[in-house]
Amino acid sequence: MSEPSPIPPALDPSARLLCGAGPTNVDAGALAALQRPLLGHMDPDMLEILDQVVELLRRTWQAPGATVFALSCTGTAGMEAGIANLVEPGDTIVVGVAGYFASRIAEIGRRYGANVVEVQADWGQVVPVERLMHALEQHPKARLVAVVQGETSTGALYPLRELGEALRGRDTLLMADCVTSLGGVELDFDGWGLDYAYSCTQKCIGAPPGMSPIALSERALQRITKRTHPTSFLLDLQLLSAYWIKRPAAYHHTAPILHIYALHEALRGVLTEGLPERWSRHAAAASQLRDGLAERGLETLADPAHALAGVTGILVPAGVDRAAVQGHLLREHAIEISGGLGAPGPDIWRIGLMGPNASADTVVRLLQALDSALAA
Ligand SMILES: Cc1ncc(COP(=O)(O)O)c(C=O)c1O
Repeated sequence: MSEPSPIPPALDPSARLLCGAGPTNVDAGALAALQRPLLGHMDPDMLEILDQVVELLRRTWQAPGATVFALSCTGTAGMEAGIANLVEPGDTIVVGVAGYFASRIAEIGRRYGANVVEVQADWGQVVPVERLMHALEQHPKARLVAVVQGETSTGALYPLRELGEALRGRDTLLMADCVTSLGGVELDFDGWGLDYAYSCTQKCIGAPPGMSPIALSERALQRITKRTHPTSFLLDLQLLSAYWIKRPAAYHHTAPILHIYALHEALRGVLTEGLPERWSRHAAAASQLRDGLAERGLETLADPAHALAGVTGILVPAGVDRAAVQGHLLREHAIEISGGLGAPGPDIWRIGLMGPNASADTVVRLLQALDSALAA
């Protein structure tokens, strides 16, 4: 018998400045919260913490009238939960697709048996609201329209308020991917008439990856109670709200307690800073970065009229090796930036300035390192 391989030493990962499309570096308070004593998931003290997280999330989503909580999985679970709960096999849904993550919504819709109508625009653009409304005229029975507010694969920001206004008075539900927008750009769940929205913890909120905050309108909840087909057990929003919201709480799964502490702390940070102040900080860092890129003759992918603050897509100049620049930044400067995403996607870098990294200091360090990478 061969000797077993030696047990590896304890982990000691190198520190990185995470300026890719996510995750971002974790807010110091949220990181410290992971060290607090573990409570059981049904402990009355833990249930009180859940109540507080719900209240903090309600304020962050600007959703006083909604059902809000966090799924014990990443942003993709929030996406899948929306389809799994709000769509039944044979339903028609309309998806505005101008990037990788909107395509993923469409793909999940098809996997759940929906008739998916994709309304497409070029990457870097947004699908005009009128085109989505036109698709709804052609498919008047469509049950749901879905868009990505912050399309991380391109750096484009969807005009969600405008779409919410256009949909007012209709039966069609509005689902929004807010993975790269919650806490980083303006978002008003109740005021804009959203029915279901999901996010993640690892981007503008500044917590570690692992959870997906969601918000659900009253009429979306009604839609779920009228379902005729059962849905996923893991992502059943009614069962999950019986743990997060209803009291006495009912066990569904063992919640990731330490991640909930971290989310609690990160959300406290978001609201202590103030939503408008946090949105402005993300916008200021993005504009400082874009000015610096323009000075270097680097072009961005997204139409400037629809540029997302948290993530900027940059066209790789002809003759420059995208991966070599990323490798140089990582090895020589301990800075992570991302490349493009998705097979038909453009040749881009994606720079994220989210959560604690949406700062002037980060931009200066990043641009200096980029200069050295491009020179090398
Ligand atoms: C816009 C968008 N939607 C969905 C996801 C999926 O989130 P996760 O990777 O946390 O599952 C991401 C991830 O980056 C994203 O950027």
